Amino acid sequence: MAGDLRRLQSRPESALQAEGLRARMAGALSSLPLLLRRAGACPRPSAGDCAGIPALRAALARGDLSAVARGLEALRRKHPFDAGQILAGGATPERLRLGAALHRQVCAGCHDAPAADAALPARDLFEEARRLPREEFAARLLLGVRGDRGTSWRNPFSDLELAALLAHYETGGGDGGAQR
Ligand code: HEC
Repeated sequence: MAGDLRRLQSRPESALQAEGLRARMAGALSSLPLLLRRAGACPRPSAGDCAGIPALRAALARGDLSAVARGLEALRRKHPFDAGQILAGGATPERLRLGAALHRQVCAGCHDAPAADAALPARDLFEEARRLPREEFAARLLLGVRGDRGTSWRNPFSDLELAALLAHYETGGGDGGAQR
């Protein structure tokens, strides 16, 4: 969410993309109480860390993005992103092979020729790996990749597979991208 907010603050490429980001943030703020409750941070819906969420939603609705940023930052300090094993270990040859194969089989179709004219476009993942802070890219890999009904829309990949994808994107595909 903090990454989406930064994108929103740094002038998205189009009004459509700004709307897409705002809608996704509104959705994420709606489900945040559930996540916080699961983390044991809200004894009641309007208590604990959930108490401030209506104010964050209101701030987003009136476009007060710095208030949203402050609220998210406070929550992030209390509940830091747990990257599991995704950021551990380096780009070993096996990882790079696995990452390249996964990307080619599963991701390239949508991400290597992204259409820009969507509210939430698929982006070039090699470029994202270069541009985003490492932790944010890992969070997007973990939270932004959806499975299907079979995985209840959860990310179907293991930490190891995500680490392999991360290594593949961070090294630029290994061959300059010719065989993405
Ligand atoms: C059917 C097309 C499609 C496939 C296949 C696909 N993606 Fe995506 N992906 C998208 C679209 C569209 C978005 C932007 C909308 C969104 O964020 O949900 C996206 C978003 C993402 C994001 C960013 C999420 C965020 O927080 O902004 C990441 C990271 C990502 N995809 C990685 C992958 C990886 C890795 C694979 C392969 C394992 C993959 N995608 C396969 C279409 C696809």
